[in-house]
Amino acid sequence: MSVHLAAKKGEIAPVVLMPGDPLRAKFIAENNLENIRLVNSVRNIFFYTGTYKDTTITIGASGMGCPSIGIYSYELYNEFDVECIMRIGTCGAYLDSIPLYTVINTETAYSESTYAGTAFNYREDYFQHQGNAFDIINQTAAALNIPVLSGSIHSGDAFYRVDREMPALAKQNKCLAAEMEAFALFANAKYFNKTAAAILTVSDNIITHQVISTEERERSLTTMTQLALEAACRIHEAL
Ligand code: HPA
Repeated sequence: MSVHLAAKKGEIAPVVLMPGDPLRAKFIAENNLENIRLVNSVRNIFFYTGTYKDTTITIGASGMGCPSIGIYSYELYNEFDVECIMRIGTCGAYLDSIPLYTVINTETAYSESTYAGTAFNYREDYFQHQGNAFDIINQTAAALNIPVLSGSIHSGDAFYRVDREMPALAKQNKCLAAEMEAFALFANAKYFNKTAAAILTVSDNIITHQVISTEERERSLTTMTQLALEAACRIHEAL
């Protein structure tokens, strides 16, 4: 048990898939894992552990924003011997040329967030993905014929902001899309010398204002989910 997770040590797998939404964690676990067990429900932040093709995997929610994913990923790395956390989330594209449903494998996360400075005195405004998960995701995507875009993204602290269409940091660094969590996850993984990746599906386009409807959202995440589960098996095998 940790401050925010009631799971016992050993109830969480070495590889964790982490959507933002607890109900998405439930949906993905119920539809893809066998022998699932709910191992945390504190604050309704559901974590399920089960097996996918004989590999034990945990799927648990991060909540929204750097402070929230910062807490859960810190405790997973520090207290549950988790080796790899793969965020599976949605993002808003900054370029009108990036269609809805595009899957992005995050190379670098830029942010104005004070999270990493506050937590670790890290002064960088960007962190790379950590460890081998990024490469394994790209290899898995190629094997499954899933088109994936790799590049930089922007982890913003505010979803609603006056400069939503052109935040300076995102523009300077040619960020493909906005989301709100990868930066803190990558900073934590760097601090603990662990593995972290973020696979993102484009759910809205910030420039054209196109959005995936609520009904389409579930379906839209199946490609990313398949990619994450298959990559998780390979990451587990390589541990
Ligand atoms: N901005 C920030 N986070 C997001 C977005 C967005 O447009 N879409 C999905 N997550």
